[in-house]
Amino acid sequence: MIQQDVREHFSARAERYDRSSHWCGDRAFLERIVDRLGASAGYRVLDVACGTGQVSRVMSERGLRVLGLDFTEAMFRQGRELTEFFVAGSGEAMPLAGDSVDAAIERQGIQFMDDQRAVSEMVRVTKPGGRVCLVQLCAFGAEDEREYFEILRLRNPARRNFYRVERLGELLENAGCAKVEIHSERSSEDVEVWADNGAIQSESQKAIESCYRSASEPFRRLHEVEIRDDGTILDRMLFAIAIGVC
Ligand SMILES: C[S@@+](CC[C@H](N)C(=O)[O-])C[C@H]1O[C@@H](n2cnc3c(N)ncnc32)[C@H](O)[C@@H]1O
Repeated sequence: MIQQDVREHFSARAERYDRSSHWCGDRAFLERIVDRLGASAGYRVLDVACGTGQVSRVMSERGLRVLGLDFTEAMFRQGRELTEFFVAGSGEAMPLAGDSVDAAIERQGIQFMDDQRAVSEMVRVTKPGGRVCLVQLCAFGAEDEREYFEILRLRNPARRNFYRVERLGELLENAGCAKVEIHSERSSEDVEVWADNGAIQSESQKAIESCYRSASEPFRRLHEVEIRDDGTILDRMLFAIAIGVC
C-alpha cells in the first residue's frame, strides 16, 4: 500500500512544499474549505494525506479535534504537531475503527491513491450523518483535460489520477454518500513558481512552461492564462470541493 514513488516525490518536495504553490497556504481558500465541512468546535475530524498540516492548522484553530494521516515522514513531521492525534499510514487502508470520526477531509491527496478505495475508507471511518469532503485540482472539461493532465503529469510523475469535477461526485456516491454538493474555486498560480517544486528536473519545468506558451485557444481561455511582458505565466486553476453526507 505504501507507494514508494509517491513517498520519494514528497520527501524531495517537503522542504519547499508550503511555498511551491499559492493555493497551498492561501488562508482565505483554506477557511472556505473548512466552512464547507460544516464542523463545530469539538468535532473529531480526519485530515487524510495531511502533509505539512495546512488544512489541519485551520481546523485546529477553530477548535476541531484533528486526526491527521499521511505516509511521508518528511511531510508529516512538519504538520503532526498541528493535529491532536496523528497516524502514519496509508489512505487506502486506514488503521482506524469504523464510525470513529465526525467528518473527514482530504485536499490534494487521493490523486496519488486507489481513489475509490480511499474515499470508501473515509466514509467507513466517518459516523452516519457526518460529512466527507474532497478538494482537488480539476480540468474544466473535454476542451482542456488532455493538455492539463499532461502538464500535471510533468509536474508530478507520481500522480495516478486526474479529475474532472463530476468524477469527485461519483467517488462519493459510489462510496455510499448522499446529498452530494460540488463547489468551485479558482487559484491564480505563477507557473514558474508552481513548476519549481523541488522534485522535478529543470527539463520538466521548461516543458511545463512550453506547454503554456503553445497552449490551445480553449485551454488559454478556460484557464485565463496570462503571459506577461516579463515572461511571467499565470494560470487561474480550477479546484472542486465535493461534499457528501455519510
Ligand atoms: C499534495 S500533498 C497534500 C498535503 C495537504 N493535504 C495539503 O492540502 O497541503 C499530498 C500528500 O499526500 C500524501 N499521500 C499520498 N499518497 C498517500 C497515501 N496513499 N496514503 C497516505 N498519504 C498519502 C503525501 O505523503 C503528501 O503528504
